[in-house]
Amino acid sequence: MKSRTDRVLASAVEAIGNTPLVELARLTKGMDGRILAKMEYLNPGLSKKDRIARQIIEEAEAQGALKPGQTVVELTSGNTGTGLAIVCAVKGYPFVAVMSKGNSMERARMMSALGAEVVLVDQLPGSRPGQVSGGDLELVEKATRKIVLERSSFRANQFRLQGNQRAHYLHTAREIIQQSGGSFHAFCDFAGTGGSFAGCAAAFKEYNPLIRCFIVEPEGAAVLAGKQATNPNHRIQGGGYSMASLPLLRPEHVDGHLQVSETEAIRTARRLAKQEGIFAGFSSGANVAAALQLLKGECRGSTIVVLLCDSGLKYLSTDLWDSSPLPD
Ligand SMILES: Cc1ncc(COP(=O)(O)O)c(C=O)c1O
Repeated sequence: MKSRTDRVLASAVEAIGNTPLVELARLTKGMDGRILAKMEYLNPGLSKKDRIARQIIEEAEAQGALKPGQTVVELTSGNTGTGLAIVCAVKGYPFVAVMSKGNSMERARMMSALGAEVVLVDQLPGSRPGQVSGGDLELVEKATRKIVLERSSFRANQFRLQGNQRAHYLHTAREIIQQSGGSFHAFCDFAGTGGSFAGCAAAFKEYNPLIRCFIVEPEGAAVLAGKQATNPNHRIQGGGYSMASLPLLRPEHVDGHLQVSETEAIRTARRLAKQEGIFAGFSSGANVAAALQLLKGECRGSTIVVLLCDSGLKYLSTDLWDSSPLPD
């Protein structure tokens, strides 16, 4: 793996990936086992989704599915849109990001600053900002389809295009194997499209079929685990959309399911900041909280790998960094 800091790069697109892997030794102090965390929030757009934006656009260019100067459109909770805005700015494609008003507004402002046209879609009646449900996402999907048709655009469809999982299969997972020397036993990941899980799990299992891979979902929206969605409007942005099937997921790679409550995700994100100096978002908190569950339970004594999906800066307007105490 070539470092991104040892030469002059042609553009910010080249600076995507090759993020550090760090041990969360302070969080796991006194526990039997280790957690290795991939600092995906150090990507140019401050999230792991830069990787899929680059992969999807470059695959579409190679296949002729995306013509020079053609408009690119995608539905986003903000991170894929930010990645696409960066890739499209560098490569010269107009980009339209379609996002629910329920996602944090830092994201919309960041995409606009990067040159994207941001279309904000109202939430369902009764939905609350900061809590984007599968129903809210359906409204965003409808608006996205309309814009794609109206503007004869290329849809960078993150739920369906294989470039999503391939970005993680070809890069994220291989970097982790190289950085860790392959010595880890499990991986757990909070699923949105399921692309990160699918790509990493495929590569890990190919490398060592004994590496166990767990899907993480919000408590109350664990439909992939076969449970009823009792709280689809949770606060863990970027996933947990209560979609019973995700096209990119391969069920044979799923060894188990874990659930994390909102307060566990928030508490763990705050501990990451205070104890590890890692300023990451809700879903990073969820991933680390799930890894801690594994270390206390069925993976005691193991080394667990997680992704730190995006930056805490994306949630300054939310209650993630409130100093108010959380319920137990
Ligand atoms: C902050 C954050 N966490 C987790 C995810 C879920 O990742 P994936 O879509 O690869 O399942 C996303 C996806 O947008 C995200 O933005």
